[in-house]
Amino acid sequence: MTHARQHPIQVVAHRGASDEAPEHTLAAYKKAIEDGADALECDVRLTADGHLVCVHDRRVNRTSNGRGAVSALELADLATLDFGSWKSRDEEPDWEHRPEDREATSVLTLERLLELVADAGRQVELAIETKHPTRWAGQVEERLLLLLKRFGLDAPESAAESPVRVMSFSARSLHRVRAASPTLPTVYLMQFVSPRLRDGRLPAGVRIAGPSIRVVRNHPAYIERLKRAGHQVHVWTVNEPHDVDLCAGLGVDAIITNRPRAVLRQLDR
Ligand code: G3P
Ligand code: CA
Repeated sequence: MTHARQHPIQVVAHRGASDEAPEHTLAAYKKAIEDGADALECDVRLTADGHLVCVHDRRVNRTSNGRGAVSALELADLATLDFGSWKSRDEEPDWEHRPEDREATSVLTLERLLELVADAGRQVELAIETKHPTRWAGQVEERLLLLLKRFGLDAPESAAESPVRVMSFSARSLHRVRAASPTLPTVYLMQFVSPRLRDGRLPAGVRIAGPSIRVVRNHPAYIERLKRAGHQVHVWTVNEPHDVDLCAGLGVDAIITNRPRAVLRQLDR
């Protein structure tokens, strides 16, 4: 299949190069940058003492050697945990855990990830997903925008020029972001097609749709409708070659994948 497009499809490393290295660790994000990913995806949660850390699950049990909810732990508690050793127990034997490289698999703060991107030596975009924003009544977005401000990323001249975008399954969370920072692009994530949005509309002010690959497989006409309505479409989580082809054929704008190197290769990049 050829991919004749005006703009190349952006390849976004989901939780870093998370197929090969433990998700949401510095090791996974460094690998994604080395592999040539255009952008990095990360989930953010607030710790008990108000730090934004990159962790997907509500609890740390699956991806570390600790237990408990992120929201009940302080950053210092999280810093004692190892977020890498679970991967060597996983079915993926490629990952070589090196406990002596503490930082590679320590809890990753969003601040450290922003530093990594700033030092990447090339343009690497960041797609930040707010997790459980309703529980914190605006604090996740508030902290996020403060942090982005420190890096000069909170108020881009225009959405098209922004190297950062904020994603969420919560329209309210995206609304909070836009109210504080109208030019920061927002992505509305969807696991199914809500009857209310079937005609290709998105929540007010949102210009980017973030459907799952299942939505794309089951409702390709909906994806075409979104494109006709002028929206960008960023699809997650696209790991299989036939799904990459499906997305390319539909003209999606970004593919969010655990395997950035393989997807780039498939897209002849
Ligand atoms: O990129 C969006 C995707 O990450 C949403 O699902 O559960 O992997 O955060 P999840
Ligand atoms: Ca996510």
